[in-house]
Amino acid sequence: MSGMIERREPTAARREIRIAALGDLHFDVDSRGQLRDLFAEIDRSADVLALCGDLTTHGRPEEMRALIDEMTGLKAPIVAVLGNHDHEAGMPDQLTELLRERGVHVLDGDHVVIDGLGFAGTKGFVGGFGRGALAPFGEKLVKDFVQGSIDEALKLENALRNLRTEQKVVLLHFAPMVETVIGEPENIYPFLGSSRLLQPLDMIGATVVFHGHAHHGTPSARTPGGIPVFNVALPLLEQSGHRYLLWTTPATERRKPEPSATTPAATAEATDAAARVRAFKG
Ligand SMILES: [Fe+2]
Ligand SMILES: [Fe+2]
Repeated sequence: MSGMIERREPTAARREIRIAALGDLHFDVDSRGQLRDLFAEIDRSADVLALCGDLTTHGRPEEMRALIDEMTGLKAPIVAVLGNHDHEAGMPDQLTELLRERGVHVLDGDHVVIDGLGFAGTKGFVGGFGRGALAPFGEKLVKDFVQGSIDEALKLENALRNLRTEQKVVLLHFAPMVETVIGEPENIYPFLGSSRLLQPLDMIGATVVFHGHAHHGTPSARTPGGIPVFNVALPLLEQSGHRYLLWTTPATERRKPEPSATTPAATAEATDAAARVRAFKG
């Protein structure tokens, strides 16, 4: 899947790419019919659908099959990462295979290019933020746990390094910074994400970051390097009467021979001037 290029129509004819982003669908077999209208609307309004994990409730294949049935008729390319709920039944590989058979680009430390726009993604992990982040000290169990956060940060770093597009869209499930989880109970912050994910973002640069998981968090914030980060968990979007975020950016086929030399802050500023973000009511 890594490095695939997908096009829906000649890019030269298009001036912008519209990404519909959302996460935390928590779909199960009893949810049938609840997202059909949403997917139909997204197909009309967006060029790419970005799904930020927790696609299912318990990570069971029958739940994923029900969700895939719901996507019937959705022609837009779909990029996705899994979430912790998609791991609950211990069958993330089967779920990934089902999605890939449907044609979904499932990212797990890798990337895909669609219409010249790069997507890098990984699930991420828990561990906490800033000075409150759990340190790899003491018992082996603690070190193994922290290594889970570090491994996900390394996967994101590799995905971004391998992406040579001018614009890099990042998909995560867990939050990379505390600012977009504020609103949740403070005592569960360490279980909502890990700021270890920030380092690859600000070191290599990204255009925009979408994540989910924090259902009652904050809609948006910026990394210290200035990259816009959006929490697109469906329950959070629904709090403001929306069902997905539509992010629009100029289309480009231009590729850089080397990874971006632009600083993350400059990238974010340049993107900010050009990109428009809108949220649509469902
Ligand atoms: Fe969730
Ligand atoms: Fe989650």
